[in-house]
Amino acid sequence: MLPCILEHATPLGHHEDAATFNLGFGFLYYGLVRSLRPRHVLVIGSGFGFSVVCMALGLRDNAAGSLIFVDPSFSVFRHGPFQTVGGQAHWDDPQKVRLHFARFGVEHVVAHGKMTSADLFARYEHLGLPPIDPAFIDGNHAYEHVAHDFMETAARSRRRVDPGALATRYQLVVSRRLAISINHACDPTLSGPGLSV
Ligand SMILES: C[S@@+](CC[C@H](N)C(=O)[O-])C[C@H]1O[C@@H](n2cnc3c(N)ncnc32)[C@H](O)[C@@H]1O
Repeated sequence: MLPCILEHATPLGHHEDAATFNLGFGFLYYGLVRSLRPRHVLVIGSGFGFSVVCMALGLRDNAAGSLIFVDPSFSVFRHGPFQTVGGQAHWDDPQKVRLHFARFGVEHVVAHGKMTSADLFARYEHLGLPPIDPAFIDGNHAYEHVAHDFMETAARSRRRVDPGALATRYQLVVSRRLAISINHACDPTLSGPGLSV
């Protein structure tokens, strides 16, 4: 499985090392799901599905939970660097998307929506989607987009404060500090720093 993930869900800068079958932060994404036992995971943005696969494998091994993955399938060549950094247009064809996740045995766990996170959040309640446990935010990396994704996710989180509830690829390792920051940002009765990304 490790070579398969490294080859076909190609990580793009997750501290991985293919030569030693090291998934890098992928082990953390998997471990997060194995330890938190979430009911519903949200992943925003992924070039080839590395974060999705690592978290979905955790759900599969937990034998519980589901994952929604939204990515509009932007391409850095077609849409330019202001829409995506590293977008690979890998999510255009629903049949290919299903086959991609079937390769890892997680196609029954993952539902892909070809849409931006803003589109998802605008329709979240209408679609009847469940509260979010961990979210992995790695879509548009511009500050206002990341802040938007944080706040919209926080508003739909199952638990208000959870050290592992919200993470970006860059802050997963400091998620405790992140949770404190989000707590301050979301709760007006608390003083201190606001949302920091
Ligand atoms: C840099 S890639 C993420 C790479 C990821 N670290 C990986 O290893 O797979 C960014 C992805 O986010 C997607 N994206 C860009 N803007 C988005 C948005 N507003 N909502 C959801 N996904 C978005 C792009 O289509 C692209 O596939």
